[in-house]
Order: sequence, then structure tokens, then C-alpha cells
Amino acid sequence: MQDPHSFARPQEACITHLELDLELDFEQKIIRGQVLLHIENRTATEVLVLDTQGLSIGAVFQEEEEVVPRLMPDVTPLGQALHIPIRPDTRRVKIFYETAPQAEALQWLEPHQTEGGQHPFLFTQSQAILARSWIPCQDGPGMRFTYSARIKVPPGLMALMSAENPARISPSGLYSFEMPQPIPAYLLALAVGRLEFAPISEQVGVYAEPNSLDAARQEFEEVPAMLMAAAQLYGSYAWGRYDLLVLPPSFPFGGMENPRITFTTPTIIAGDRSLTSLIAHELAHSWSGNLVTNATWNDFWLNEGFTVYFERRIMEALYGPEYAEMLAFLGYQDLQNTLAELLPHRSHDTHLKLALKGRNPDEGVNDIAYEKGFFLIKCLEAHVGRPALDEFLKQYFADHAFAAMDTEQFIRYLVQKLPAAVSLNLEEWIYQPGLPANCPVPQAKRFLAVQAQQTAWLNAEIDLKELQVKHWTSHEWLYWIRGLPPTLRPAQIESLDQAFGFTQSGNAEILCAWLTWALPQHYAPALEAVSQFLQKVGRRKFLRPLYRALLTHYPEQARAIYQKARSGYHFVSVHTLDKMLAWE
Ligand code: BES
Ligand code: ZN
Repeated sequence: MQDPHSFARPQEACITHLELDLELDFEQKIIRGQVLLHIENRTATEVLVLDTQGLSIGAVFQEEEEVVPRLMPDVTPLGQALHIPIRPDTRRVKIFYETAPQAEALQWLEPHQTEGGQHPFLFTQSQAILARSWIPCQDGPGMRFTYSARIKVPPGLMALMSAENPARISPSGLYSFEMPQPIPAYLLALAVGRLEFAPISEQVGVYAEPNSLDAARQEFEEVPAMLMAAAQLYGSYAWGRYDLLVLPPSFPFGGMENPRITFTTPTIIAGDRSLTSLIAHELAHSWSGNLVTNATWNDFWLNEGFTVYFERRIMEALYGPEYAEMLAFLGYQDLQNTLAELLPHRSHDTHLKLALKGRNPDEGVNDIAYEKGFFLIKCLEAHVGRPALDEFLKQYFADHAFAAMDTEQFIRYLVQKLPAAVSLNLEEWIYQPGLPANCPVPQAKRFLAVQAQQTAWLNAEIDLKELQVKHWTSHEWLYWIRGLPPTLRPAQIESLDQAFGFTQSGNAEILCAWLTWALPQHYAPALEAVSQFLQKVGRRKFLRPLYRALLTHYPEQARAIYQKARSGYHFVSVHTLDKMLAWE
């Protein structure tokens, strides 16, 4: 089956191993060097087809012979196919190349965009189809290879990859990496900066800039327990170490499940460990996604829906069912909002199985894959019972480890192993818009208590000072803010903010929820706070609602802030916001 977002033809000739030899040029924002591809020519084809985007291709060799490659015309957003002549017995192809300064996977940061302010930084974000902008490769999630790498960086900086990693800065600036398990290209990752390592357990540790290493280590202290809980649920961890890397705040995602080393935004360091479900999520991808991988981006829900389910099971194992219920409830609210937004004009994008051919797979990244996917599995759980579901999932990961899975293959496997699933209305869940009637509606006990207090306050039965908020986590606060009516008087908004300090909150989730609510109320302090926040943080999940609120209520400020902040954002955020703000 042809991947709609890759030019590669792996059924003819495929990459089995990739050897990178690269040098980073921070001055010119270029990575240059060579890649040696080990290939298996399955059909004695005369051409190896690779994905590239914006790469400058130099000399190319099949075995020892220099050959003339053909770089085909650019097809947005896929980039350019690279056709390399090979022979029936070709086993090695070597390519000299360099990246473009605007390579879409790469973000080159100036020292002032880092915590320490002294050294530059580079990180990659390859998912979904951006690996091809820094490595010529077969860039589809259904194609896997092992890799090794030699990376040369300026002295004083540390290089990390989705592979076996160093614990210390190398004085020569030279690093070697080995990734012995086969992975798809979207899990190729590199980060370079002034980083330090701190162990948390034998198997788990954290990399961060020196100034934030301590806070990060404390925030993530429970990650070894998460890893144990996860392995207990769905089988042993396949990747050796599990480390975390805290990136500068421009990182466009909350987290990215790069094997052996999850990349994460610093905005989850809240000081009270209350945003660590995000780590449970990225950790869970070590099974759903990295071990059993969606065959194409149309099957993205197989990666994310299972991972959200798994994430909440890990959180339940650590913090109990009432905690996991809160996460599910907030997810349900997110899902309802996304459905309300998409159903009128883009109802086909609310199917679990997506039709992204001819479009950027980034358009499929929304709460449908995550939350509708999650609720399908909850529905399955309610139907067959937890023990049967757990046994099924454990077997699913074991049977398909290091392989790709598409939606249709999954359905066949599911009804074969759990015949009761046929009565779930799978056809509607997967191929129809909206949410089927048998979707279980989550209940969250701890939110009932929040609700009761909010109602009492709104009815002027109690004062803010009397609220019992001592044991609230971020989730209760989010529920509280989401529940605020748009009819509060200015004095009420002010006293709320005075009592709880939302506008000054160091918790990015709470701050973002509050600002998204307060901007439409024309609460003046929110405007200055949002301007500060948007010039610091590049996480797309926060940028979207904040710019949207600004655009509706303060359109001129939206453009003025974006003008200042845009150069500090990664390509994926810029791409989304340029469209939203009609920027040219
Ligand atoms: N793999 C995703 C991030 C992603 C998806 C990047 C698609 C590019 C294309 C990652 O696991 C993820 O889902 N991150 C979420 C956090 C999670 C807790 C929902 C994020 O970044 O917000
Ligand atoms: Zn995910």
C-alpha cells in the first residue's frame, strides 16, 4: 500500500540501517555531512526513492560508484522525491548533503531564547513528515530502520538523540550514537545545547539546562513508578533507558515521544507535579506508537487514542481512579469543543480513520484522534470488562511489536480476539462523523465538589475566602475556570484574580485557561500577561486559543504581538498561526 505522504517505495527497496555523519554549523544554521544507507533491494529495482525537503544534495554513490541522482519537482507539503540509480545487488548508498537554514524540522535558537542565555540551542521535531527536511530517508511511519550517528557540535555543547545517549559534555564536541531497535523516521531526533544530566533512578533520568535541572528532577521524581506501572499493564519496556529532555519554551508541543528520550516543554514544570500526565502520555507511546506504529497518518488514532487510554491507566495506577476520572472529564470537554468546531464544515475530519491524502497530515492533529480514540477504547472496556481488555492489549503489543498497524488490520485483529466487540458499532465509531450514542460519559467525583462550591459562590452564598481549595490540583482549577460564566461583573473578576493570582500563575495550563477566558471579558491585566506569555512560550496548544481570543477581541494587538513573537516560534507553530492570522 502506498503511503499518501511519502514518495518512497519500500516494497521495492527499503532502508534497513542508516549511518549519519553530521556537523552542525550554528553560524549559518546548517547541518552538513553524509548519510550511508544500508538497503535491501527486494525487487531488483533500478531506482531507490527517498523523501527530501529543502535539502541540497551533493555527491551520491551506490556502493563505490558515483551516480547521478534526480531531485524531482517539489510537491507541497511533501517535498521532493530523490531518485537514486541503483543495481539489483546494491546494498549501500551514500549521500553527501546539507540542510536549508529554514529546514522545517529544525529550530535554531539564539542564546537569549534559552534559560542560561549564553549558548545557542538546536532541536528537531520530525513528526509527522519533517524528518525529510534534515535527513534524506524513507519518511513514512510504516517504514522502519535502525541507525547510528556521529555528530560534531561546537565545544561546550551536548548532543542528544533518540538513541543511547551520553551523560556528560564531550570536550571534543564529538558524539556517537547507536539505536539498535528499528524505528520509523518520524522518531529520529536530535537536540544540542548546554545541557546537563541528573539521574532519577537506575533506568530514568533527566536532561535540562543547568539552571532548571533541579526543578526538573523533582518534578519528574515519580516517572520511575510510571514506568513500572506501564510495564505491569502492557508488557516489558522495549527500549532500555527512559530519559527526559526539557527543552526551551519555544518547543511547539507538550511532549514528543522520541524513543529513549522524551522531548518536553518546560511549561509542564509546575512545581507540584500536577501536569505529569503528559509524561505518562509520552511514556505510553513506548508501546502504542513506537512499538506498534500507525501505518500511515490516516491511522493516527491508533497511535494517540491508545496512548491517551494508556496514559490515564498509568495515572490511575499511581494516583487512583478519581484522578484519572478528572483527566477523562476534561478530555470529554475538549472533545465536545472540537466536535462543535469541526462538525459544521469539516465533519469528515471527525472520523477516526482520516482521509489526509493531498493534505498536510498536521491537519489531522486534533482531539478527535486523541479523545474520540480514547472513548472508543473506554467503550470497549465497558463492554468486555477490564481484565479482558488488558489481556487483549498486552497481546496486541506483543504480537505486533516493531511493526506497523492500519485501522482495518486492527479491526480484524480486534474482532478475532474479542468477538464481543462487533456489537460496539465500530463502523460508526471509525468511519462516521461525531460521537456514537454508546460513548460512555465520564463522571468526575472531585469536580462535583468544585461545581458545588462554584455555584455557591455565584449565588453569593459563600465568599471566595471560604472556598476549600487546599487540595486542588491543576485539574480542579481548570474545571473551575472553564465553568466560569461570561456574565461576571468586573469587580468579581478582579476579586477572583486577587484571591487566586491567576494572571500571575506560574502554571501554564492554568494561566492559558484563565487568559482565554478573561480576554473576552476585556479584563485589562490579561492583555499585558498574554503579550508576555506569547513572547516566551511557543507551544502550539496554548498559542491557538490565545491568538484566537486576541483576534476576536483585540485584533490589532493580535497582529502586533505576533509580529514580535513570530521569529521565536518553531515552524509548526508558525505554519498554524500564519494561516490563522492571514499573515504574509
Ligand atoms: N506525538 C505527539 C505530538 C505530535 C503529534 C507531534 C502529531 C506532531 C504530530 C505527542 O505524543 C503528543 O500527543 N503530545 C501532546 C501531549 C499529550 C499529553 C496530549 C502535546 O504536545 O500537547
Ligand atoms: Zn501522543
